[in-house]
Amino acid sequence: MVNGTTLVTDHANGILHQCSECHSDNAIGAPGKTGVESLSLAMHNFHKDKMTTTTIAANTTPTCYNCHPGPNTQCMRGIMEKAGKTCIDCHGDMNKITSSLQGGRQAWLQEPKCGDCHDSKHQENTNTLYRNSILNNSTSWSMNGKIYCEACHNGTHSEFITANSADPTIPQKFQGDNYWIWNCQVCHASRVWGGRTMHQ
Ligand code: HEC
Ligand code: HEC
Ligand code: HEC
Ligand code: HEC
Ligand code: HEC
Ligand code: HEC
Repeated sequence: MVNGTTLVTDHANGILHQCSECHSDNAIGAPGKTGVESLSLAMHNFHKDKMTTTTIAANTTPTCYNCHPGPNTQCMRGIMEKAGKTCIDCHGDMNKITSSLQGGRQAWLQEPKCGDCHDSKHQENTNTLYRNSILNNSTSWSMNGKIYCEACHNGTHSEFITANSADPTIPQKFQGDNYWIWNCQVCHASRVWGGRTMHQ
């Protein structure tokens, strides 16, 4: 009502709407309506000054877990968490998320990079999200362009080694440990190479 929509009366009449009918959402490729903020901008902008307005919200750590999964799910449990990093170290706080979107960052399509902290031997492919990046500086040209980062390091927020013992089923099966895939023999049955690293 405040925003000139009929959402409240529609809801009372049993008519449901998806947020993305009006707020663009790159996660599902929804264009939204012209002039209406993206869903990410609307949510982070509107709540940025409300994170400590209730006791529950203020006591939830990190505060992002008020909406993201979450105090029980523990979506952030990878090696960077072990190293003491939090959401804010990589994404910035509510204000930064808001201002970056207002400054032109595209929600979901432009996210933090491993290469922001690690060196250039250990970075994503140019203009490519981590989840779509592929090892291209391996020890052999024939191995390049074939293996996703995630195949060895696991997904974002749960990069090996993780705090959840249910995560490392693949390294457990093929390497017998909880690490990222480091052992050449996981894929090369009988060959043994001395002194070659995965990233050259
Ligand atoms: C029928 C269109 C429509 C739908 C559907 C819709 N919104 Fe909105 N929403 C608006 C408009 C218009 C505004 C005000 C201006 C803007 O954000 O650009 C707004 C504003 C907001 C704001 C900012 C609050 C404020 O007062 O500034 C939030 C947060 C928000 N919407 C969340 C949602 C969520 C979550 C959903 C789904 C559950 C949703 N909206 C569904 C049209 C819609
Ligand atoms: C008030 C609820 C709320 C809080 C608090 C919140 N988020 Fe979100 N966030 C959302 C919603 C809802 C979406 C999904 C938007 C969409 O589908 O496009 C989202 C999407 C995102 C995205 C993906 C979209 C983008 O902008 O790239 C990132 C990254 C993100 N949040 C980070 C954070 C971080 C970091 C914090 C804590 C500093 C945080 N969020 C706190 C509700 C919240
Ligand atoms: C070590 C850095 C790092 C930390 C810490 C981190 N993120 Fe992320 N986050 C990323 C990267 C990198 C991506 C892009 C993922 C991709 O390429 O698929 C991302 C993506 C996201 C997305 C978009 C959805 C997705 O999976 O692509 C959301 C939402 C999000 N992060 C929320 C959070 C929240 C909430 C926290 C804290 C609980 C957090 N992140 C902590 C690096 C981080
Ligand atoms: C905000 C900075 C930051 C970002 C972004 C970041 N890392 Fe890290 N990473 C660290 C820190 C700090 C450590 C622990 C210290 C160390 O070993 O370098 C670490 C450790 C690691 C390690 C263990 C290294 C070792 O030999 O023990 C791996 C593997 C790793 N990160 C992978 C990733 C991946 C994959 C991404 C992107 C999805 C990423 N990191 C993004 C800061 C970051
Ligand atoms: C075939 C498995 C494999 C793939 C695929 C892979 N990595 Fe790695 N990664 C490793 C191994 C093994 C190490 C440790 C030894 C080394 O650095 O070569 C490592 C180390 C890292 C580190 C930690 C570096 C540090 O500071 O100690 C980061 C960050 C990283 N990789 C990011 C990436 C990214 C980004 C991609 C995709 C572009 C990727 N990796 C693809 C196996 C892999
Ligand atoms: C996740 C699976 C995977 C891991 C782990 C892996 N490789 Fe590979 N490797 C491949 C693939 C796929 C090819 C391409 C094979 C082809 O084109 O037939 C390849 C090809 C090669 C080749 C060229 C072909 C050959 O057999 O001589 C070399 C050399 C090589 N890898 C070395 C290594 C070394 C050294 C390591 C450990 C540091 C390693 N690989 C770890 C998947 C892997």
